[in-house]
Amino acid sequence: MTVTIREVRPQDFGAWSRLYRGYGDFYKVAMTEESLATVWSWLTNEAHLLEGLVAEREGALLGLAHFRAMPSPLRATTIGFLDDLFVDPPARGARVGEALFDRLKSIAAERGWPRIRWITADDNYRARVLYDRIGAKTSWNLYEFTA
Ligand SMILES: CC(C)(COP(=O)(O)OP(=O)(O)OC[C@H]1O[C@@H](n2cnc3c(N)ncnc32)[C@H](O)[C@@H]1OP(=O)(O)O)[C@@H](O)C(=O)NCCC(=O)NCCS
Repeated sequence: MTVTIREVRPQDFGAWSRLYRGYGDFYKVAMTEESLATVWSWLTNEAHLLEGLVAEREGALLGLAHFRAMPSPLRATTIGFLDDLFVDPPARGARVGEALFDRLKSIAAERGWPRIRWITADDNYRARVLYDRIGAKTSWNLYEFTA
């Protein structure tokens, strides 16, 4: 069955919420009605940087990818950054994740972004099988501090 990758639409809210709650569960981040409404308002506001893709098969949403443009000042260019990627557990292993990356690759080409970056946990072995297939691991370390 064909999987279509497309931009999120306002009528996707219910199906998108279910998937995004699953992503929150995966990262043990509690999602509230309010946090879902906030992220949805970003995704559906053309003026907001965050954009969303969904994978659809026979009217059902199987996966999502949230991404945005990110300035890369060192090279005076704009690149893409992938924030969230999730495929519904029963749909995994059928290359839905790869299809979302394929679409991101075309978006990067259309917009002239020379690369797309993302981060993952060191022990996210399942995701890393996919990432090692379609991308290249960098040697960067991720730091942060709490404000
Ligand atoms: C990571 C994720 C998006 C991949 O989606 P997917 O549609 O299954 O991706 P694909 O089918 O394109 O590729 C998955 C790879 O994992 C492999 N895989 C399948 N089951 C696996 C398992 N139990 N353990 C490890 N790898 C497994 C598949 O074999 C496949 O690689 P292959 O086709 O080279 O054999 C999905 O597993 C997911 O949503 N995970 C939970 C959330 C997450 O980790 N998101 C990324 C955060 S950075």
